[in-house]
Amino acid sequence: MNNAGIIGMGHAYPSGVLTNADLERIVDTSDEWIQTRTGIKQRHKAAEGEYTSQFGTKAAQQALDKAGLNAEDIEIIVCATTTPDQIMPSTGALIQAQIGATNAAGMDVFATCSGFLYGITMVESMIRTGQIKHALVIGAEVLTKYVDYTDRSTCVIFSDGAGAAVLAPVEAGKGILATKIRSDGRFEEHLYAPGGGTKLGTTYATIDNRDHFFKMKGNELFKIAVRSMAEISKEMLDKAGYTIADVDLVIPHQANQRITDAVASRLNIPEEKIFSNIAEHGNTSSASIPIAIDECLQSGKIKQGDLVLLTAFGGGVTWGATLIRF
Ligand code: COA
Repeated sequence: MNNAGIIGMGHAYPSGVLTNADLERIVDTSDEWIQTRTGIKQRHKAAEGEYTSQFGTKAAQQALDKAGLNAEDIEIIVCATTTPDQIMPSTGALIQAQIGATNAAGMDVFATCSGFLYGITMVESMIRTGQIKHALVIGAEVLTKYVDYTDRSTCVIFSDGAGAAVLAPVEAGKGILATKIRSDGRFEEHLYAPGGGTKLGTTYATIDNRDHFFKMKGNELFKIAVRSMAEISKEMLDKAGYTIADVDLVIPHQANQRITDAVASRLNIPEEKIFSNIAEHGNTSSASIPIAIDECLQSGKIKQGDLVLLTAFGGGVTWGATLIRF
């Protein structure tokens, strides 16, 4: 049995930026409210004509370069996204074509902000059992195209971007040491986009009702997010025989700075051990964790040998935690 580990990372953003001052001109809000309630100063926004697979492709190409592999070496591409280019084919298959991964199976995982952890949980066992050797797991989103810019509680949060990881067998003791994912569909309406599917379809009525945009119960989500990320992190660490004191760095999904602070407080994580880049990037859903890992590797915040805890929560609701030794 081989441990699966990350051997290359990449990330990409659209060049467009939406600052809090820009939002003040669009909805009834203020820079002060947004920063105090979310910690966000600006977010990335794709231009018209820019779409999810383009950012996933850029991130994937960087990850392949870092790993020293060719696209043909990849056997599976799992793209975590809630904002696909189109309903079919999958964004994973579209990225496969764009990078030329002719020996791979491309697919999507639809697990909102926890999607990257769902993806690495799936391929981890495929690598560990020897079924495959090289996988690409990508989190890619253009959330701003699903955001209702008349709804001030959602439009201040969501952002666009992509992060990608190449996974491969690594030496014993390194790589993914434990991982756990969960969902609870009973909370469906806490964060959802009801229109456009087989239930409501796309009609004049759904469009008038703005059903194709995200709708969110922010306050309810907030409480479940904090509880779920803290509980699953603890459960996973306990099962793997580690404590939070063993962990060098925690990278939570970048949902809201107050959620990150509350998770840190519940798990007794000192401020310097919990990563945040939400001020500059906003909430990029499934892309936030791979982007953060890549930033931490590039800045030296993650060093070889470090034990890193990833934890995520998102609409569905979904949540998860993964422990990686770099
Ligand atoms: N600017 C100014 N006021 C705003 C606002 C904005 N952008 N958005 C909401 N408000 C107002 C509300 O209308 C409400 O006003 P009222 O009291 O007059 O009705 C007031 O602020 C408080 O709203 P509330 O929803 O209780 O605020 P909050 O402190 O919960 O913050 C969120 C709202 C959305 C920032 C917060 O709930 C959140 O981040 N939740 C988690 C969301 C999330 O992470 N989603 C992604 C899942 S991964």
